[in-house]
Amino acid sequence: MSNKMWGGRFASGPAAIMAEINASIDVDRRLFRQDIAASKAHAEMLAKQGIISVKDGKAITRGLDAVLAEIESGQFAFKRELEDIHMNVEARLHELIGPAAGRLHTARSRNDQVATDFKLWVRDTIDDIDGLLAAYQRALAEKALANAATIMPGFTHLQPAQPVTFGHHLLAYVEMAGRDRGRFADARTRLNESPLGAAALAGTSFPLDRTMTARKLGFARPAANSLDAVADRDFVLETLAAAAITAVHLSRFAEEIVIWTSPLVGFLALSDAFTTGSSIMPQKRNPDAAELVRAKTGRITGALDALLMVMKGLPLAYQKDMQEDKEAAIDALSGLSLCITAMTGMVADMQPDAARMEAAAAQGYATATDLADWLVRELDMPFREAHHVTGRIVAAAEKHGVTLDALPLAEAQAIEPRIGPEALRMLSVHNAVKTRKSLGGTAPKNVRAQAKRWLKKLRAK
Ligand code: ARG
Repeated sequence: MSNKMWGGRFASGPAAIMAEINASIDVDRRLFRQDIAASKAHAEMLAKQGIISVKDGKAITRGLDAVLAEIESGQFAFKRELEDIHMNVEARLHELIGPAAGRLHTARSRNDQVATDFKLWVRDTIDDIDGLLAAYQRALAEKALANAATIMPGFTHLQPAQPVTFGHHLLAYVEMAGRDRGRFADARTRLNESPLGAAALAGTSFPLDRTMTARKLGFARPAANSLDAVADRDFVLETLAAAAITAVHLSRFAEEIVIWTSPLVGFLALSDAFTTGSSIMPQKRNPDAAELVRAKTGRITGALDALLMVMKGLPLAYQKDMQEDKEAAIDALSGLSLCITAMTGMVADMQPDAARMEAAAAQGYATATDLADWLVRELDMPFREAHHVTGRIVAAAEKHGVTLDALPLAEAQAIEPRIGPEALRMLSVHNAVKTRKSLGGTAPKNVRAQAKRWLKKLRAK
């Protein structure tokens, strides 16, 4: 039997494999809320414009509400032979209200319908992700405030570089998440134009009110060009780009959690709530959640790449290729939500080992820059020369197997006679962080102020 929705010119139905590759209902059934909301807006507009009767308009609206209730309560029977969510909803509407259902598709195509539905879904998802990122930032800022003076090694090349505070480190991720939210917000602003009423590609001869449907669906305005309206998937690409960058940020932090919770490093402990054991090695406590955040980043960035490749050779306007926009995008964005929530949980759960972090910060001559700075400040030495002199002093300390502040003064003076005892005394890690008060620097006072600034900002929303 040919398709009831579009099979007028067809004598028989599709091959099984054709039906199989064509159906998208397994994926796009997730859009049922958006599909029904957009259909209601369209029906009300058609009635207001006198394109369909007010009576039919009301029957359609009531029928769509009934379909929504059926889907929400799990009673709806999705049919693969009806291909997608649009035709599943319309077919059921027909069963419920009869021939009036056939008027809903006036001046509309599945092409503008699917673009509208997916835009609405992506917009809702952006709003959810923004809320999750705000909660993540809050957890980070609270932990940062509590650890504004907790000293740890700061790294470059994963080599101990200079002491920083744990709070400062956590606030770096708050900044990143802030930019992530900005990127999602930008995508949302550009996304917010309604494709509905573009019809198949060329617009329609019916007297639509596209501004009315746009407003009803919370769009800022109707999309200006009908070809662009149905052929555009920038809104998915931009959102996936924002998601990919966010995931990369989470993954970098996840990697640090993996390293820091290793007993070899021991900077952080995660509780039973965020670790798992091994089925063979009883001593193990594995940071699986952090590892999975790191891994899911591959899938999330992969979704962006996949859709870029789907779109790259497509002529205007709608091509069926575009049906492939949803599966990876939905997977990526739900994966990202899971990752943000897991990271938020781990941030709240993590317990720093302050003594171990501070001891590590004192290793590896991490205050050498402070000695070079002292030579510049007190002896007016050019920095390049101070760097060289300090390097020789580090070599001497290394030879004696001591930290810089424990080096016998005579040894330092053999290299630079003007060095006094106060120069070596101020080479403690505490002094190193306390004096880094420059804007954006790691001093506990700065960190406290920045953490409070963020907490206030996050509360204000
Ligand atoms: N299921 C389709 C999609 O997701 C809906 C649009 C189909 N349009 C068409 N002309 N066959 O893209």
